[in-house]
Amino acid sequence: MSDIRDDVRDTFAELYGAQPDGLWSAPGRVNLIGEHTDYNEGFVLPFAINRRTVLALGLRDDRRLRVGSAFADEVVEIALDELAPDALHGWSAYPLGVAWAFGQFGADLAGAPGVDIYLESTVPVGAGLSSSAAIESAVAVALNDVWQLGFDRQTLAKVGQLAENRAVGAPTGIMDQSASLLGRKDSAVFLDCRSLDSEVVPLGLAEDDLQLLIIDTGVSHDHATGGYADRRASCEKGARILGVESLRDVSVDDLPQARELLDDETFRRVRHVVTENQRVLDTVRTVREQGPTAIGPLLDASHVSMRDDFEISVPELDLAVETAQANGAIGARMTGGGFGGAAIALVSSEGVSRIQVAIDGAFAEHGFGQPTMFVVTASDGATRE
Ligand code: GLA
Repeated sequence: MSDIRDDVRDTFAELYGAQPDGLWSAPGRVNLIGEHTDYNEGFVLPFAINRRTVLALGLRDDRRLRVGSAFADEVVEIALDELAPDALHGWSAYPLGVAWAFGQFGADLAGAPGVDIYLESTVPVGAGLSSSAAIESAVAVALNDVWQLGFDRQTLAKVGQLAENRAVGAPTGIMDQSASLLGRKDSAVFLDCRSLDSEVVPLGLAEDDLQLLIIDTGVSHDHATGGYADRRASCEKGARILGVESLRDVSVDDLPQARELLDDETFRRVRHVVTENQRVLDTVRTVREQGPTAIGPLLDASHVSMRDDFEISVPELDLAVETAQANGAIGARMTGGGFGGAAIALVSSEGVSRIQVAIDGAFAEHGFGQPTMFVVTASDGATRE
């Protein structure tokens, strides 16, 4: 049976003419609930999925870095001492940005050897499943090992985030890298994005005979431009006017007063974040006390909030969510940064194919491109293979 690890090892050997010193991998993630709360120092509940980036790495005897991938025809090469955000372009900004970001967190790279890296991924790109964090986290654990840096996983998540913020230029939060690094099989990661404290929350999907269906609309998004940064700016504006450090400090009970102080659009942005934080806390409690079947209404409410208050949904995502709900999903919502990407539906195992057929039909009827649908399971985070 062909395994992506064999492909990666073989292609590394072809590309660089030597066997790698090791293989590492890191998963993409899906966010169960808690959207646009991470950069507001709030709560998120993502899990690592069974789709991964796998990389092979070989140490060099000089200080050059080479990265190749199935994403690109060319191997990109740079000297360790030349790493800087402005020197990095295209897809290689993800892996090389991580190498640069280690230095920003005080890693002493003066004696570090160069490396050759080759990577492939089964995380779909542009689907809102954090293909980028999967690359960053795989590179972060690999370099942390071979450069013997001893960074803990929280710090590795920050290294990956800095690479994404500065080298790639997307002003994203800490959720994706944290999920990819801290994920555990059959569980979600409940993360406090202020303290970075996290807890593993067993989901119990199999016990309730549930599946999590991903509906990738095929509408591509890009968080380095446009809407994502605008939303972030609205949240910062709201916090400033309300006189708090971040929207984490605003509770549902504060909303009537916030309405008096904010313009309508900013108020709705704030209301999404504040109620979404509460929904994450409610979801964690509900899963623990009643099991996953009981969280459906929280997922549905999250979608409404993103559609109407935060305004980050698109017609394809709304249609996927509504069709899933109308065909028996326990709950459904768009997931990730929005403006495209994927929706999730929590579905009983016997209902998966019925919902897929219904969504396919609805998309065709509306003249939308065919969506890609698949089930994901909660998986372990980044690791040495
Ligand atoms: C993207 C970002 C995350 C987070 C989500 C929205 O996935 O990378 O940091 O902000 O959007 O919840």
